[in-house]
Order: sequence, then C-alpha cells, then structure tokens
Amino acid sequence: MRLIKDSWAAAESHSDEMGRLFYATLFRIAPETRDLFPVHMEVQRSRLMRALVHFVQMVDQPEDLVPFLEQLGRDHRKFGVVAQHYDAVGQALIGAIRAHAGESWTPQVHEAWTGAYADLATAMRTAAQAERGPASWLGRVVEHTRVGWDLAMITLQTPEPVPYRAGQYVSVETPQRPRLWRYLSPANSPREDGTLEFHVRAVDGGWVSRAIVAHSQIGDTWRIGPPMGRMHVDPSSERELLMVTGGTGMAPIKALLEDIAQRPEQPRTQVFVGGRTWEDLYDFASLRKFSYSNTWVDVIPVVEDDEGATGAERGTLADVVTRYGAWSDHDVLVCGSPAMIRATVSRMLVAGTPLDRIKYDPFTMD
Ligand SMILES: Cc1cc2nc3c(=O)[nH]c(=O)nc-3n(C[C@H](O)[C@H](O)[C@H](O)COP(=O)(O)OP(=O)(O)OC[C@H]3O[C@@H](n4cnc5c(N)ncnc54)[C@H](O)[C@@H]3O)c2cc1C
Ligand code: HEM
Repeated sequence: MRLIKDSWAAAESHSDEMGRLFYATLFRIAPETRDLFPVHMEVQRSRLMRALVHFVQMVDQPEDLVPFLEQLGRDHRKFGVVAQHYDAVGQALIGAIRAHAGESWTPQVHEAWTGAYADLATAMRTAAQAERGPASWLGRVVEHTRVGWDLAMITLQTPEPVPYRAGQYVSVETPQRPRLWRYLSPANSPREDGTLEFHVRAVDGGWVSRAIVAHSQIGDTWRIGPPMGRMHVDPSSERELLMVTGGTGMAPIKALLEDIAQRPEQPRTQVFVGGRTWEDLYDFASLRKFSYSNTWVDVIPVVEDDEGATGAERGTLADVVTRYGAWSDHDVLVCGSPAMIRATVSRMLVAGTPLDRIKYDPFTMD
C-alpha cells in the first residue's frame, strides 16, 4: 500500500494528462471499447480513472471492497464490458501512472499496482461471469411531476419488476443523455406492477440531472442497471430505528418505510428530515401523512435557516440529531448528499453512537 500511495502522490498533480493518456492508450490497444464511453469524454471528467485509483488504494480493506466490486462487476455488464477489457484497462491505467510518476516508479511499485489491479479485476470479472440475470432493464416514463424549479418526481414502469430491495439504488441512462449513466434511488419498495418512482434534483452544471428534470417526457424509455447498495433494515434487530435524511436521500428512506410497513412487526422509528429551508423538505407532507396511518413512525422536520418555519427543529441535521443524545440503543440509517452523510456520521460518532450501528452507503461519496 505504501508503494502505491507514494507513487500516486508523485503522479497525482498531472491527473488531466494521465486521464488523457489513459483513454488514448485504452482506445489504441482495445479500439472496440471507445463505443462503451460517452461521445463527449470531457463530460465524464475521467470518472473511470478516478474510480480505479480510488479502489486500488482500498485494496487492503477487502471486507468492504469485495462485495462492492462484485456488484460493480455485475453492473458493468450494462456498458457492454467483457472479460478481455479488464486487461486493456489495467495496462492503460498503469501505463498512464508510470508515465507521470517519475523516478518513484520502480519494479516493486509496478508489481504493487499490477497485483492490486488484478485483485479488483478478478472480483469484478468473476461476479459478472457468474451473473445470469439481465444486464439492464427497460422502463417507460409514465409520470413526470415538477416539484419546484429544480426537482422532479418521475415514475417509470418496467414490463417485469426490477429485482431490487428497498433502500438500494440503480443506475439509469436516459434518451436525453445517452451513455451517461447516473445513480438514482427508488422511492418505493418493489411493486408487482413494476413501477419505480424517482426523485431527481437538478444540480448546478449537472449534465444528466438537469436534462431529467427539465426534459424528461412521458413515453421516454430509460435503461436501468442492476440494483446496488446495502442500505437495509434488519428484520431480526430488536432495536429502535433512527433515520436521518436530507435532499433526495428522502427517496430510499420512503422505500424502506414502505417495506417495513408490510412486515408483521415494526420497530419504533424516528425520522429526521432536513434541509436548508422549508421548501427543501419537498416531500415532507407525504411522509407526515404516512406517519398518521403508521403510528410506529415519528417524523421530525429540521431546517437550517428559515425564520418562518414553525414546527420545525432549527439547525443542521448533525446539530439537531446529536442534541437528542447518543442514540446508542438505536439502529441508525443516514441518507443524503456525501457532505451531509459525512457531517452527520462524524458528529454522531463524537456524540457516542457506536460506528457499527450506523448504516450509510460508503461508496456513495462523490
Ligand atoms: C448511490 C447514489 C444514489 C443517488 N440517488 C440520487 C437520487 O435519488 N436522486 C438524485 O437526484 N440524485 C441522486 N444521486 C446523484 C446522481 O447520481 C448524480 O450524481 C447527480 O444527479 C448529478 O449528476 P449530473 O450528471 O447532473 O451532474 P454531473 O454533470 O456529473 O456534475 C455536474 C456538477 O455537479 C456536481 N455534483 C455531482 N453530483 C452532485 C450531487 N449529488 N450534489 C451536488 N452536486 C453534485 C459535480 O461535482 C459537478 O460539479 C445519487 C448518487 C449516488 C452515488
Ligand atoms: C477493476 C476494474 C474497474 C473498476 C474498479 C471500475 C470502476 C468503475 C466505476 C466506479 C465507475 C462509475 C463511475 C461513476 O459513474 O461515478 C465506472 C464506470 C465505467 N467503467 Fe469501469 N471499472 C473497472 C473496469 C472497467 C473496464 C474493464 C471497462 C471496459 C472498458 C470499464 C468501463 C466503464 C465505463 C464505460 C464506465 C461508464 C463511463 C464512465 O463513467 O467513464 N470499466 N467504472
């Protein structure tokens, strides 16, 4: 790990050139891979290369990494990735880093990178080869509701249900942005009619989210990748439940609540829903309505800086949740933007919540 980290530190400041060299090499040695990537590569900002380096540096934490890589390998089938491509990607990656690592690149460093990449590739490739289900599903947009200028709720219908578990996420490709796949979290638990509801917030400068919010239309066909993620509520746990959510993190929380409601027994559950202003709690009314008919749930709105918000707790989610104490006898789920997850989880740990009680999708960090 030290050899990998030191050589990466020496090369890192040249990341743009490395990205260009990586793709140039890949498309030269395996030209058929060009068609798997978007037409305009600059839009991707070298996502793949950044992801590769990130995971190579985690190769010494296999207990978290391997299950994730197995999902990622199954997910990569939707791009049209096949087993031979892994060698070409490894060669392009290591060649690009070597070209910019200068004197720090020794035979031992080369061996360290090659070995680590081989471990990642083996986990992904093996899982992909073992998978018998479809590489992707088609879904038709049957509803598109704008909720404010930057948010839309979109319902898709698939001919056969996508086999996900409440709390998981999927990647989607839209006709407006071909080959730009993005992750979205269904806001409902699986239904027999194959409908999936998504909440999409347009982010500043966002290629896909802005196109979805502004231009999706009823009748559009989306492709949906295999379900991923490990957020779930253990039915055998005897503890009460705390859910902390901001922004479109509300979507997987709603899916989980719907799922729990169908179980024979429900844990007492507190849901803190936060935003900067009251308007950010775009779907609060439906959660509150849910809590009226499901008395095991309490929903608490939290706003940061809205003078007019009566009936809401004031502060960030991290402030408000930790004001109630350590929650050490609860199972905790945190869902939202990477920044919100980071802030909330770190404050809860300081307040005394045991780490093994807190669940969030650690690979959702951008
Ligand atoms: C596991 C997972 C689940 C997700 N679920 C949802 C969901 O249910 N609903 C939803 O709307 N989004 C969700 N996202 C985020 C979504 O996948 C996209 O990253 C987001 O829509 C931006 O894509 P884009 O193409 O519009 O932006 P890009 O063109 O990729 O990026 C444009 C700019 O926006 C910034 N940016 C990228 N993502 C975000 C973000 N999330 N918040 C703020 N700035 C950002 C980038 O740094 C860049 O500067 C989820 C992400 C993950 C990892
Ligand atoms: C160990 C090997 C690999 C790892 C860890 C890996 C990881 C990833 C990750 C995490 C993403 C998603 C990035 C995001 O959307 O935020 C991604 C995207 C992608 N990967 Fe891989 N990948 C690997 C191998 C490959 C191979 C062999 C190919 C075949 C050419 C490939 C092709 C793609 C494509 C086409 C995308 C989508 C376009 C893009 O985001 O650039 N990947 N990969």
